[in-house]
Amino acid sequence: MPNNDRKSKIILYSPAFEKENYMAAPPFDDRDGLIWFDGEMVDWRDARLHVLSHALHYASAVFEGERVYGGNIFKLTEHSERLAASAAMLGFDIPYGAQAIDDACREVLAANGIVDGYVRPIAWRGTEMMGVSAQATTIHLAIATWPWPSYFSPEARMKGIRLKTASWRRPSPDTAPVKAKAAGLYMICTLSKHAAEAQGFDDALMLDWRGRVAESTGANIFLVMDDGKLHTPTPDCFLDGITRRTVIELAKGRGLDMVERVIMPDELRRAKEVFLTGTAAEVTAVGEIDGQRYSPGEITRTLMEDYERKVGKSPADAASAA
Ligand SMILES: Cc1ncc(COP(=O)(O)O)c(C=O)c1O
Repeated sequence: MPNNDRKSKIILYSPAFEKENYMAAPPFDDRDGLIWFDGEMVDWRDARLHVLSHALHYASAVFEGERVYGGNIFKLTEHSERLAASAAMLGFDIPYGAQAIDDACREVLAANGIVDGYVRPIAWRGTEMMGVSAQATTIHLAIATWPWPSYFSPEARMKGIRLKTASWRRPSPDTAPVKAKAAGLYMICTLSKHAAEAQGFDDALMLDWRGRVAESTGANIFLVMDDGKLHTPTPDCFLDGITRRTVIELAKGRGLDMVERVIMPDELRRAKEVFLTGTAAEVTAVGEIDGQRYSPGEITRTLMEDYERKVGKSPADAASAA
């Protein structure tokens, strides 16, 4: 029997990529709780699908990652709309509208009593067809949530993570539906992250097919350059993250000059501060890329704190979180 000792092998997905904070946890199919599954609340351990599901074989699945702060899902409707848009880019319609998906997310949150955590909606093609063509497959939707408190103070996240440039590149828009949060696009992310981890790094920096700086495996990148301005790559072949857009708004609100442009890897030498943004990463400082060191500084700290206020990390801020 393979994998008998599976419980001891499972590590909890870390919100801030910090290995020392990974914790032994039960596998994701063996937990208490309820999962919203095609319109019904089912026991966590019964939320199963057949091995001959199209999505498992051909990556015909799209998903979202959302964070809950003080009982509110940050930017919930934007996530639900992106989920629907991702599905449309893969050629299928989710049989629930964005409003119904919002409601289902809130419902599963309440059913599990989650106040600070993570929400994972996923839509996929079912079992009716087992070839490349999948026109007649049923479209399913499931939504799970689990506790995910914000473990790290801004000080801890200011330490900065270490990135290694990946050998895999983000594909061009005529190679893959690059704007979709589609399962298949994460194949190269997992390969890249594993390669970085094997060399002792926290995550990979991915270039695009033209060799331009793109993003990390699960977050967008920002650089404070030697001109004092905040620069970020134009998202023309990777996700224009919801956190990215929020941070751009916050930076503008602070009167910082924002520049969205093509960024080449040799420019990384001139950066003063580097940070990542994403639902999981929130705002996380980068301390090194390929041996080049950065000192997380004032702008990173300011935006990290502004982001925490915006999402409503403390109860006092919750009311103003959008
Ligand atoms: C590949 C990739 N890029 C960027 C992001 C950041 O997107 P968001 O801020 O919407 O979470 C994510 C996370 O969803 C991601 O997986």
